[in-house]
Amino acid sequence: MTAQQDTPPSSDGLFRTKTVEQSIRDTEEPEHALKKSLSALDLTVFGVGVIIGTGIFVLTGKVAKETAGPATALAFVVAGVVCALAALCYAEFASTVPVAGSAYTFSYASLGELVAWIIGWDLVLEFALGTAVVAVGWSGYVRSLMDNFGWHMPDVLSGTDVAKGFGFDILAFVLVLVLTVVLVLGMKLSARITTFVVAIKVAVVLIVIVAGLFFVKAANYSPFIPEAQPQPSGSGLTAPLVQLMFGYAPTNFGVMGIFTAASVVFFAFIGFDVVATAAEETKLPQRDMPRGILASLFICTVLYVAVSLVVTGMEHYTELSVEAPLADAFKAVGHPVYAGFISFGAAIGLTTVCLILLLGQTRVFFAMSRDGLLPRFFSRTHPKFGTPYRPTILLGVIIAIVAGFTSINELATLVNIGTLFAFVVVALGVMVLRRTRPELHRAFRTPWVPVIPILSVAASVWLMLNLPAETWLRFGIWMAIGVVVYFAYGRGHSRINEQLDRP
Ligand code: ALA
Repeated sequence: MTAQQDTPPSSDGLFRTKTVEQSIRDTEEPEHALKKSLSALDLTVFGVGVIIGTGIFVLTGKVAKETAGPATALAFVVAGVVCALAALCYAEFASTVPVAGSAYTFSYASLGELVAWIIGWDLVLEFALGTAVVAVGWSGYVRSLMDNFGWHMPDVLSGTDVAKGFGFDILAFVLVLVLTVVLVLGMKLSARITTFVVAIKVAVVLIVIVAGLFFVKAANYSPFIPEAQPQPSGSGLTAPLVQLMFGYAPTNFGVMGIFTAASVVFFAFIGFDVVATAAEETKLPQRDMPRGILASLFICTVLYVAVSLVVTGMEHYTELSVEAPLADAFKAVGHPVYAGFISFGAAIGLTTVCLILLLGQTRVFFAMSRDGLLPRFFSRTHPKFGTPYRPTILLGVIIAIVAGFTSINELATLVNIGTLFAFVVVALGVMVLRRTRPELHRAFRTPWVPVIPILSVAASVWLMLNLPAETWLRFGIWMAIGVVVYFAYGRGHSRINEQLDRP
């Protein structure tokens, strides 16, 4: 491959690393190999397919109404900058270590096994809960479309929510199971479906921007940054950690509101990191991976800023709907036909988001199992389809059940904190790998190291601090469980451990 020399794995316990050469060699064992079939364009479509989703279709309205007003567009810019910094780090890692598993693999090669485990465990949280969140959002749009035709789903099959109480979300459950089957049948099939659906989704977003522009009223932008207001339920654990830390009375709106909003709409950008998980299935990863990641991120940032400006211009932020803001803004200006079309496109579009998050999830699990940190049973690929069908089926069923029984709000912030944490580790990893393996070929080099990685760490931590204290608590509990699992299983079964034990 690209490396000039081979080095044995380092042996210092928790910080033992798996060499980059070894990571690449493992992918060449036929029984554990994935098919290489994706190009830069596939990756970009893949990226846009997963990035545009519930974030822009659902969270925009909620955040504009409750946290930032028209300045939601600025929140998207803030979140986009945080992601761009992280993307520059991801792109270097993905082009240096083109192996399934994303940040997990990268950190195994640079920061050691314990950190790799932590990040893998963290990615499981991000992708699994992300899939569930989007599946539930999807089912909401489908139900709203069904209502247009006069078909009403019984409440007990419409999921749990505050107004209706407990229910099972049958649509979300079925969606995740169907997508699991698609993934077991193979990447090529799912990439083709993805391309078609992404085209519909982008078309809907463009319609919102272009058609909506005609209904924008300047008066709706006043005030652009609404004055800070005390948070009604913002005391205690629901307040952003940063406000509690520095003893502020928690507020919405104002300049701080832009950052709080950014930490929530950050969800809308999740997905470009998933592109990195497909490195091993990419034909020319060294060239195409950075192109795919950066292109998809750029396209989405431009679209989000435009959509949020248009929507908050069409309707005063205080009037926006929190369930289907893009469609309802058109209803508010007397165009229900556009609204119906937008809901339809959103429902179709959210399908790919779900699919790709589920894919990222199974690939991380696959990589961890191939390394022995999870049972090796899960890393046998299917003899005919070449897909890691065992983790796909196991996780698909678990996520389907979670999606059936959960409501989305709190889960989304938990997904955000997990993802931001992964960004921090990746940025640190870029700096560490530059020092420990300076000779490795890097098809894409992060510019201005260490400035960009340091800025990336600072920006990600800042957004994390703007998330509610209760999100930090839940995240801490999940990670603590992960550390216990590592010491109880992964540490003893790791393949690196077995190699070191061999005479
Ligand atoms: N970025 C994806 C979404 O907004 C996860 O749904």
